[in-house]
Amino acid sequence: MKKDLSNREDVELLVNTFYDKVKANATIGFIFNDIAKVDWKNHLPRMYSFWASILLGKHSFSGNPMDKHIQLSKIAPMTDIEFSEWLNIFAQTTDELFEGEKAEEAKKKSH
Ligand code: HEM
Repeated sequence: MKKDLSNREDVELLVNTFYDKVKANATIGFIFNDIAKVDWKNHLPRMYSFWASILLGKHSFSGNPMDKHIQLSKIAPMTDIEFSEWLNIFAQTTDELFEGEKAEEAKKKSH
């Protein structure tokens, strides 16, 4: 039986594993790699904080994801196809690593 997501280390493992898959993904990888040219050293810690805020109640994230995605949608395809792919990879990664209430909450909240 897998463990549930329960601390910051778990969140970091989830986020790191998720973005490794995203970078290599045929449908959305290029948006991160070639269009946004994401600076991962900066982005990953922001995503740890984002998910820790949501799942662990550690309110360390301050950012504006909507604004970033609206700006991005002007230069990249951001349709149901890309969002579904993102959500599928996220659910797959969560299920691969964890099991339990928090894991279910993470998948639900990603939507
Ligand atoms: C088609 C789907 C998506 C694409 C292509 C995408 C892409 C990106 C990119 C390129 C960035 C900017 C990284 C940077 O600052 O360099 C970003 C930021 C972010 N994304 Fe997404 N994203 C997607 C869906 C989502 C979803 C579903 C969520 C939430 C569950 C999410 C949460 C965030 C957050 C929290 C940030 C950071 C905002 C900040 O730094 O203030 N993204 N995204």
